[in-house]
Amino acid sequence: MTASKHLIALLRSHIDGDNEQFLSVAMQVAAHEARLGHGTLAQQLRDIVDEARMRKATRSNRPVPLAQPKGDLAALISASYSDTRLSSMVLPEALSQRLKRIITEQRQHHRLLEHGLRPRRKILLVGPPGSGKTMTAAALAGELTLPLFTVVFESLITRFMGETASKLRQVFDAMAETRGVYFFDEFDAIGARRAERNDVGEIRRVLNSFLQFLEKDDTDSLIIAATNHPELLDPALFRRFDDIIHYGLPDPDISGGILKARLSGFDTKGMRWKEIIEASAGLSQAEIARAAEEAAKRAILDDRTTVTRQDLLAAISERKTSTSH
Ligand SMILES: Nc1ncnc2c1ncn2[C@@H]1O[C@H](COP(=O)(O)OP(=O)(O)OP(=O)(O)O)[C@@H](O)[C@H]1O
Ligand SMILES: [Mg+2]
Repeated sequence: MTASKHLIALLRSHIDGDNEQFLSVAMQVAAHEARLGHGTLAQQLRDIVDEARMRKATRSNRPVPLAQPKGDLAALISASYSDTRLSSMVLPEALSQRLKRIITEQRQHHRLLEHGLRPRRKILLVGPPGSGKTMTAAALAGELTLPLFTVVFESLITRFMGETASKLRQVFDAMAETRGVYFFDEFDAIGARRAERNDVGEIRRVLNSFLQFLEKDDTDSLIIAATNHPELLDPALFRRFDDIIHYGLPDPDISGGILKARLSGFDTKGMRWKEIIEASAGLSQAEIARAAEEAAKRAILDDRTTVTRQDLLAAISERKTSTSH
């Protein structure tokens, strides 16, 4: 088909309200562009169509009310929908690329599966507190319009002492039943509690069963685990993940990016960013975001549209003293 024929077909399907036909013509356009050697454009078109299909699927599959886990699972998993987008995170380019690759592989999982390939879906996030691990899990869920199920390991151990393996099995069964992002937070809680003598046996059992379930799992859900203390984790664990992504303290560009993004609704003309960024050195992404918010609040309550150097320096210094106790 020529470009104008495509256009007519698109319009027809739009007027008819035939969404599936509309997307299918869009895919034909993508194929046409690919044949002309316009690979990037073709890919962009396919990405958009995939995203539209995924959104529609999730929307119509959305159980009403939200598939809240029931019974014992309710104590282990909390369910939510996420509006967080990757674009609201300020990330080093390499890290951002790795997250985008996960999203692309997930969005195009049908195409990969047709060739017997699996999208990456078991991800370990490693990094200090406040470096954006939880936000990443939310952003992946938001981008993929999947429900976010947060599994709290700590309660697994404290509440279900002695029956953790069977509870974990329930969590992994849920993954097969409801496609989603399953976020295993406070992974390090397991390691940290190793020191408490009573728990050692139980913790080993939790880790071992987690390893086994993780290895066996071949559902379509994403499994994301986060830890502050990779050194406490069993090396055997690392091999079970498709990707291990490291987070660190922000460099000056990232710090500046977070501050400016958070203050984008305010006038910051003439701000000496270099000085501000230097003052914020050592603070985590979370603390920097928080300092920007505090400075913004101060301006709002003073009826100002400008956030000043003093506002920011004061907020940063307050963050620094409150974290260096
Ligand atoms: N890369 C980032 N860009 C913008 N804001 C960020 C970024 N990373 C963190 N933040 C801000 O910091 C807050 C806390 O980050 P998050 O909860 O994701 O950290 P974490 O790594 O999970 O920490 P913890 O180990 O304590 O759980 C986020 O809600 C967000 O406001
Ligand atoms: Mg977190």
